[in-house]
Amino acid sequence: MNFKYTEEQEMIRQAAKDYADRELIQDVLERDAKAIFPVQHIKNLTELGFMGMMVDPKYDGGGLDSISYALAIEEISKIDASTAVVISVHNSLVCYAMEKYCSEDQKEKYLKILARGEKIGAFLLSEPEAGSDATMQRTTAEDKGEYYLLNGTKNWISGAKYASVYLVMAQTHPEKGHRGVNAFLVDKETQGISLGQHEDKMGMRSSDTYSVMFNDVKVPKEDRIGEDGFGFKFAMQALEAGRIGIAAQATGIAAGAMERSIKYAKERKTFGQPIAQHQAIAFKLSNMAVKIEAARNFVHKAAWLKDNNLPFGVASAMAKQYAADIAMEVTTDAVQVHGGYGYVKEYHVERLMREAKLTQIYEGTSEIQKIIISRYLLK
Ligand code: CAA
Repeated sequence: MNFKYTEEQEMIRQAAKDYADRELIQDVLERDAKAIFPVQHIKNLTELGFMGMMVDPKYDGGGLDSISYALAIEEISKIDASTAVVISVHNSLVCYAMEKYCSEDQKEKYLKILARGEKIGAFLLSEPEAGSDATMQRTTAEDKGEYYLLNGTKNWISGAKYASVYLVMAQTHPEKGHRGVNAFLVDKETQGISLGQHEDKMGMRSSDTYSVMFNDVKVPKEDRIGEDGFGFKFAMQALEAGRIGIAAQATGIAAGAMERSIKYAKERKTFGQPIAQHQAIAFKLSNMAVKIEAARNFVHKAAWLKDNNLPFGVASAMAKQYAADIAMEVTTDAVQVHGGYGYVKEYHVERLMREAKLTQIYEGTSEIQKIIISRYLLK
């Protein structure tokens, strides 16, 4: 086993940290307050190679490994988890699944532009009646011979407004249940697609979330991914990889909160000494560090398994569940360490706490991860 990062991994981590510390920090509070999408930051991060970073160079990607990706997501999330989620959905949910399962023609048409970061991808699975129970897809994809006709509504779609390529799951054969679901590549500009309401979220406010409506949307046959009925498994496979990104994000949120807590605890004095000298605070800091280290190890193990073509679905579920849960604990403690200052925006930790909450919810709640893990144990 080797716990040392390669030179390349360390370089990627440092590049992400530099950008976050220098640029993202400047307007993160304003973007959070006003729910502004980080358009210019995504352009800059594309130029730095963070969009499409794991895609094979033969499809115009960066060819980097998943550990580099996890390190980058962690560093960006320490400062700005909203920007990190745009990168995470694009890279590990959308690009990964497309590279693994799309045909060469589909990769030529859609993956290359995503891998170059010229366009952003979004993942459309959740529905009003199909959140945790993703098998209950009500959006229909009727087979009309030359094309499929899509009708229905998708909910909670990250990046829906700024993404151009949608991965859409829809039901073609309702009598077959989840085995009747198909996955499609859909250009967002296709006639019949409209955005519903913008969700006014508690956290991750700089990443946009919308519902998306499909009204008689024609999708060419050649834009279906895989065999007829492969859509549900495709979505599950995409989520296995996506969860590495969210776990790295949760680890970063926790690490960001810890770094701020350490700084504050060394500066702030009560009863004649820095509060870091009080055991009540020192033990909190110590607990934070242990939890974050464990979460990071979970994330990197899942990433390593993925890079070595070994099954990683259970590892990514463990990483996601653990990292999200400790992110909530660590950020709650970080607010407590900061006392009243923790409860105001300027000190960032209340924002990190709001962001942590979403990591327990999206790409499968913590409870869904436990279902995945326990089924593996019991099978
Ligand atoms: N890979 C491949 N196939 C899989 C799979 C996997 N990881 N997991 C399940 N499947 C297959 C099963 O083999 C089964 O197929 P067969 O019947 O042909 O054998 C089929 O899928 C159904 O599996 P289950 O019987 O286990 O289904 P279930 O309904 O009992 O449980 C679940 C499935 C794991 C709970 C699943 O519904 C799930 O993961 N739900 C959570 C969905 C989720 O994460 N949504 C987040 C939305 S995306 C998002 O948040 C993105 C964003 O915008 C940020």
